[in-house]
Amino acid sequence: MIPSYYEFYCPVKIISGHKALDNLPYEMEQMGVKRPIVITDKGIVLAGIIDLVKEVFKEFNMEPPIIYDEVPPDSSNKVVNEIAKIFMKNQCDSIIAIGGGSSIDTAKGVNIVVSEGTNDLMQFAGAEMLKRPLKPLVVVPTTAGTGSEVTLVAVIYNEDKGIKMAFTSYYLLPRIAILDPRITLSLPPHITAATGMDALTHAIESFYCIQKNPLSDGYAISAIRLIREHLIEAVKNGKNKQARLAMANAATMAGIAFSNSMVGMVHSLGHAAGGIAHVPHGLAMSIFLPFGMEYNLEARRQELSEILLYLGGEEEYVNTPKDKRAERAIEIVVKLKEELYEICKLPRTLREAGVEEEKLPEIAKAAIDDPSIIFNPKEMGFDDAMKILKKAY
Ligand SMILES: [Fe+2]
Repeated sequence: MIPSYYEFYCPVKIISGHKALDNLPYEMEQMGVKRPIVITDKGIVLAGIIDLVKEVFKEFNMEPPIIYDEVPPDSSNKVVNEIAKIFMKNQCDSIIAIGGGSSIDTAKGVNIVVSEGTNDLMQFAGAEMLKRPLKPLVVVPTTAGTGSEVTLVAVIYNEDKGIKMAFTSYYLLPRIAILDPRITLSLPPHITAATGMDALTHAIESFYCIQKNPLSDGYAISAIRLIREHLIEAVKNGKNKQARLAMANAATMAGIAFSNSMVGMVHSLGHAAGGIAHVPHGLAMSIFLPFGMEYNLEARRQELSEILLYLGGEEEYVNTPKDKRAERAIEIVVKLKEELYEICKLPRTLREAGVEEEKLPEIAKAAIDDPSIIFNPKEMGFDDAMKILKKAY
C-alpha cells in the first residue's frame, strides 16, 4: 500500500568498486577542495589503509592529506574539539572519514565545529539545529553494517555530562561514500557477522516499520537479497572481494532504507542492551532480530511473508504455503544465527553474550524509553519487553 504522504532523501554520491578508493583525489578535486583531513583510528593504520590513501593521492599528484588517527572506540566531544583544532591549524577545507561508526560520527561532529566556527559542539545537539551546509565530507566505511555513510545522524559522547548526545540534520549527510572491498578485507569473522546482521536488521525493520514507503522498500529488498547471497561467504572467507563488495553495498542500501523509514523495537532493545550491558550493537541486533519479527508478526504478516522471497529465495518462497511464509522468514533468521554461531561463535542469546540476568528489567525499562520504539508497528510496554528479553536470554 502506498502511503498518503512520505519524504525520501539521499543526496550521497555512492562510488562502489574494487578500486573505488583510487577515485578519492579526483573526487576531492571535483568538489574544489585541496586540503582534506583524514579522521580515522589506529586499527585502520595497521591494516595498511592509510598507506593506500597516501599512495592514491601521490599518484594523482595531489598533496597527501593531514591524518588524525587516534579516534577511540567511544569518541567524545573532547576528541571532536581536538581534531577541530588540527583542522583549523592546518587550514583544512574538507574531511575524509575512514572507519566504523565512531570515526564517522566524530567526523560529523568535527564538521559541525569547523563549519559553524563554534567551540561548543553541544549547542547543536538535537534535531535540525544546523541551518546551512557544512564542509565537504567523504566517508569510507570500514565495517559493512552501520550505514553511517548515508545517514543524517551522529551520536557523540558528552564527557562533561556523561551522556551520549544525538545530532540529526540533513546537513550531516556526507557528500560521497566510497565502497571499496580492499577496506573490509581484514575485518575478523565475528565482526563481519555482527555488522552484517546490523545491516539485515536495518533492512528488515525498515521494510515493516510505520514510515516505510516504496522507495525505502526498494533499497531494503535489494539489501536483504545481497545479504542472503553473500553474508555467510564474507564471514567464512573474508578475502573474497566479491562477497565483501556485495556486503558493503548491502549495508549502504540498508542504511538508505532505514534513514528514510526508520527502525523499530529491535533497535530499541539493542540500544538499551548496549547502554546497560555493553552488548555491541551488531551482536544485539543479531540476538533480537527474530524476536522483533515475531512480536510484529500479526501486525505485519503481509510484509514478513514478502520478506521470505528475498531472504529465502524464489524456491523457498514458492514451496512455502502462503499462510506460513511469515513464520518461515523468522525461521530463516534463526537458522542464520545458528550458522553464524557454528562458523565464528557469534553469541545467539543474551546469556552467551555475557549479560547478567538481573540486568533484564533495567534493559526493558530503557528499551521502552528509546526513541526508535515510536516507529515500531506494534506498541511495546515494559511487560512485553521483559517477555522478549527472557526469550532472548
Ligand atoms: Fe543498527
